[in-house]
Amino acid sequence: ARKVIIDCDPGIDDALALMLAIASPELEILGITVVCGNVPAETGAKNALKVLEWMGRPDIPVYLGEEKPLVRVYVDARDTHGEDGLGESGYPEAEGIKPRRGAVSFLTETLRKNEKVSVIALGPLTNIARVIQDAPECMAGLDEFVSMGGSYKSNGNCSPVAEYNYWCDPHAAGEVYEAFHALPWLKGKKIHMIGLDVTRKIVLTPNILEYIKCIDRNMGERIEKITRFYFDFHWKQESVIGCVINDPLAVAYFIERSLCSGFDCYTAVETEGISMGQSISDAYGFWKKDPNSHVLTGTDALGFMKFFLHRVANADES
Ligand code: BDR
Ligand code: CA
Repeated sequence: ARKVIIDCDPGIDDALALMLAIASPELEILGITVVCGNVPAETGAKNALKVLEWMGRPDIPVYLGEEKPLVRVYVDARDTHGEDGLGESGYPEAEGIKPRRGAVSFLTETLRKNEKVSVIALGPLTNIARVIQDAPECMAGLDEFVSMGGSYKSNGNCSPVAEYNYWCDPHAAGEVYEAFHALPWLKGKKIHMIGLDVTRKIVLTPNILEYIKCIDRNMGERIEKITRFYFDFHWKQESVIGCVINDPLAVAYFIERSLCSGFDCYTAVETEGISMGQSISDAYGFWKKDPNSHVLTGTDALGFMKFFLHRVANADES
């Protein structure tokens, strides 16, 4: 199994991504690091622990990370994910497991000790930027890096051009992309950017939910409870029947490359002004800079859904 750390801000779709990761034998999850994003880090960590309890994996450590973006004032996404970050589903806190302190040192030490650790980042990149600021040389231990964030040709979801994770901490996103361009320890490595172009195609519909309930009632009811708020948000905001679940696609893509397709190029993130948080991918090489990203633009949405249902609800893969 491949060693991974999942950096996240649970968050409804982060919770679904954690379920998928835990249900995937290809992954050895060394730890879950939480960052402020959808909800404050402490709330996000509680939610990660709930997922571990549901999935029967209380042994996976959860670490509290940064409580504020690097520079910008912190803006959460409780309007989308509910006050508790899990769609106001009212699930009790996990019993007997607590988050640990020090997400940034956990990431740093783990990358330092190992040769091949991958990071799947599902929230703002504040923790990762801090690791790079404190100990850039530990990046030599990084195998692959997948980030759910940004948008290539799709609109934003926080401004006309910016996606939430990069908009919430644009400076962190900017620094991480720049590190993949400039740091000697990251030479040749690329950020796999799973942006809104691909994740917007991943829609959990009422029909799929009913199907999950038919094959696994417990799991289906849990997913229904945590996504109801998200369904309502999508209906009010975008007149969509169903909800876009961004983060699980990053996990699925890490395991199964054929689920998304894209191209290599140089990407930067704007930190100021009206386009703050926008990811700008130089697809035609105007800037003559070596690629620091692999930007995913196409996805097999049905293939993803089968992959997700098979693992999370034990559905037949065909
Ligand atoms: C991203 O922002 C968050 O609200 C979601 O969890 C996802 O990571 C989508 O823009
Ligand atoms: Ca997230």
